[in-house]
Amino acid sequence: MSEQLPVAACESCVSRRDFLGRVAIVAGAIIAAGCGAAGDLTGVGSGPLPGGSVTIKIADYAGLATIGQPVEVRTSTGGSLGVAAVRTSASSFIALGMACTHEGTKVNIQGQIFNCPNHGARFSSTGAVTNGPANRALAQRTVAFDQTLQTLTIS
Ligand code: FES
Repeated sequence: MSEQLPVAACESCVSRRDFLGRVAIVAGAIIAAGCGAAGDLTGVGSGPLPGGSVTIKIADYAGLATIGQPVEVRTSTGGSLGVAAVRTSASSFIALGMACTHEGTKVNIQGQIFNCPNHGARFSSTGAVTNGPANRALAQRTVAFDQTLQTLTIS
């Protein structure tokens, strides 16, 4: 016969409900951080863009000479900024977030499309969904093209 020990009241003890609530909060924070790393523009890589803007020289990105060719914008040390620029005409460009709109995985540039390595979503060079499970286009960023300086400012 087992002996039941008396349970002492504990002021610093956590109830089961409180414990589970705290676990849920921590799990949510971890998931949000994970999504941020790959799922939104402010959490990818390092450099000037997150939360602000970045200016790039078009000549630094050979792909920007070709209409419809996405190029990944990088820091001067090669880090990803989680955004791609695409020339859409002789004098216009777009910039797209590289976070898959399904679950936030960073998409890859394959030829002239974006491919998500997680569940296979694909996006056109303008960010439109061409293959699910994503059902929203890649996020567009604001782009200012300086024709004189031949630069793009993405914000
Ligand atoms: S996260 Fe990209 S397809 Fe699921």
